[in-house]
Amino acid sequence: MVEKTEFNTQKKKFNDGRDWFFEKRFGMFIHWGIYSIPGWHEQMQWRMEVPRLEYAKLAEKFNPTRFNPDEWLDAAESAGMEYVTFTAKHHDGFCLWNTKETDYNVMNSPYGEDVLAKLADACHKRFMPLCVYYSVPDWYHKNYPNQGRHHELEPQKGDDPDIGKYVTFVKAQLREICSNYGEIHGIWWDNNVPEHDDPSVNAMIRKLQPKAIINNRGFDDGDFATPEREMRDAHGDVNSPTTPVEACDSIGAESWGYRENEDYYSIGRLTNKIDYYLARGHNYLLNLGPKGDGSIPEKASAILAEIGRWYGNVKESFQGTEFVVSEDADVDITRKGDILYAHLNEKRDKSGVIIQGVDKSPKSAIVMNNGNKLETAVELMPSKFQSEPCLHIWGIPIDELSNEAIVLKLS
Ligand code: GLC
Repeated sequence: MVEKTEFNTQKKKFNDGRDWFFEKRFGMFIHWGIYSIPGWHEQMQWRMEVPRLEYAKLAEKFNPTRFNPDEWLDAAESAGMEYVTFTAKHHDGFCLWNTKETDYNVMNSPYGEDVLAKLADACHKRFMPLCVYYSVPDWYHKNYPNQGRHHELEPQKGDDPDIGKYVTFVKAQLREICSNYGEIHGIWWDNNVPEHDDPSVNAMIRKLQPKAIINNRGFDDGDFATPEREMRDAHGDVNSPTTPVEACDSIGAESWGYRENEDYYSIGRLTNKIDYYLARGHNYLLNLGPKGDGSIPEKASAILAEIGRWYGNVKESFQGTEFVVSEDADVDITRKGDILYAHLNEKRDKSGVIIQGVDKSPKSAIVMNNGNKLETAVELMPSKFQSEPCLHIWGIPIDELSNEAIVLKLS
């Protein structure tokens, strides 16, 4: 194989408590809030132009009688996920913890209990790292400078736009989150629309929670990039060998929060993406939106279980392996010592794999998805007749496994 060695550089390690992020690489994103009650989209207030005070009435209906954080964590574990990132405050500004900084919070809903505290307790009992999502845009707080930019309301009557005062509020809220809920493993900022820099915010978090990894959508660069859905470059370079990356997507195409008639992605699409990023040494955060009553939609549980079955079979190909960038392999390759793993994800289109520059047949070639053995030979390929004989693996059950990323183990 002709390897482009610069891509094989080990990922940047933090060499401190934040290194958990390189061990546990597949996480569950949870979007849940008062928007889950109507079940249309987490940005319903903005996208449907619901007046602020009318939207806020949803808080009077928030009573998730079926909220059980252990069920959420069971679902995460069924998919093989090892950490959780939870929307404590989305763009609507409604807070799911007992905050002293605004009345617009769960304690004043009919539910009246601290959701973040319950989730944090459940996570701590299982040693499941918990990260907290926090939106910079706020469609409720009077000091947030809503100016009608993307992810913002038009200026609102009676507001007092003042980014300085707003950041003071944000810091006070983050101080609560980082002080009152035990260990927090990460802060996931979303959308710094005002592009306001203030390194003191992350500095405070780092002091209070040394294990917390912080993403790049806040008030400084943070620790890791966050490509989202198909927008690979919008929030960081996926091909950077040194910047840690956590890609994210939802199990459905239309919404991150619960949507009643969601258009769910196929297992094929989901596993292809997960494989693509994990093979490259990145992390992957897959989202689901529980219903307004706290329960997980049946279809979402089924998807997670399917992903877990697939992930359990192929996980080894991502653990302790390095990504090999090879111009002449028509699949993604990861390697651990003498073992090569060939990943047929987004690129797969035929039942064979050719790896140039490998002049020995492996002792065994196995389809990790189902344990089937494959035949291999070092031979001259008609399509590569000008180069040396190369490793050819054929008979891959590409149609039988058409709905999941295929990984081959070559020992
Ligand atoms: C986008 C959306 C937001 C969602 C986020 C998750 O930024 O605006 O609603 O929470 O993606 O990455």
